[in-house]
Amino acid sequence: MTKSIAVAGKGGTGKSTIAALMVLYLKRNNLTPVLAIDSDPDSNLGTLLGIEPHLTLGDLKNETIEGLKNLPAGISKANYFETGLQEIIEESKGFDLITMGRGEGPGCYCYLNNLVRKFHEDLMNSYKWVVIDNEAGLEHISRRTTTNINSLIVVVNNNPISFHTAKRIDILTEKLKISFERKFVIGNMIKKEFEEDFIRKISELNMEYICNIPYSSELEEAVMKGEPVSNVCDQFDGYLDLIFRKIGGQ
Ligand SMILES: Nc1ncnc2c1ncn2[C@@H]1O[C@H](COP(=O)(O)OP(=O)(O)O)[C@@H](O)[C@H]1O
Ligand SMILES: [Mg+2]
Repeated sequence: MTKSIAVAGKGGTGKSTIAALMVLYLKRNNLTPVLAIDSDPDSNLGTLLGIEPHLTLGDLKNETIEGLKNLPAGISKANYFETGLQEIIEESKGFDLITMGRGEGPGCYCYLNNLVRKFHEDLMNSYKWVVIDNEAGLEHISRRTTTNINSLIVVVNNNPISFHTAKRIDILTEKLKISFERKFVIGNMIKKEFEEDFIRKISELNMEYICNIPYSSELEEAVMKGEPVSNVCDQFDGYLDLIFRKIGGQ
């Protein structure tokens, strides 16, 4: 059975970092194959994982819409697009990556979006774990493009707005009855003096608190230099053990 995790929250809280640490943890513990999905238009999950994506889903959709005008005889729209979909999967050791990329240009994408949905469903089933790094806004949640996810993890940092985002996501997901089996909060770099208050506030949500990931200067430096986080990820193992024990599947 595939287990899927969506990481959400306000921009800058550490979603991509935590998603990357999760993917690398699963890889190092042989809980593979893993599919990483970068669904933030300002994509950087690939960089954090040490992969530069050559083709995003957004590029492919735009190319298809353009290409359709001069499609070779005998090739259907679906054919053309589905061949391209195989190419957007970046294969690495222990995990694959799909980058959603930028949004859509003018033109009708509904047909392609239906093919993407089916492709995603089929694809996700062939992995043990799927980790999705979401965009900062709540669009994917309100548009219900994030569906059938086992665990939703909302990342919160010292910025009080990030707590409000968690609260909004909580309310929205309750209201829409979106199928997340469980909802969690992870603190990132919450200062010691705020931690108690933070945990108390989280207890008012329909979300389970997992842990507070500490600030790491080595991590910050690696990211600043554009290096993959694989060089510095070991120091977070204790926290990741806790996260995966809590969300299950180990
Ligand atoms: N635990 C941490 N220690 C040090 N720096 C961190 C930590 N978590 C995140 N960062 C830094 O904070 C910034 C924002 O993180 P990022 O994962 O890109 O956030 P988001 O994806 O939510 O926008 C990045 O520069 C990242 O390196
Ligand atoms: Mg990000």
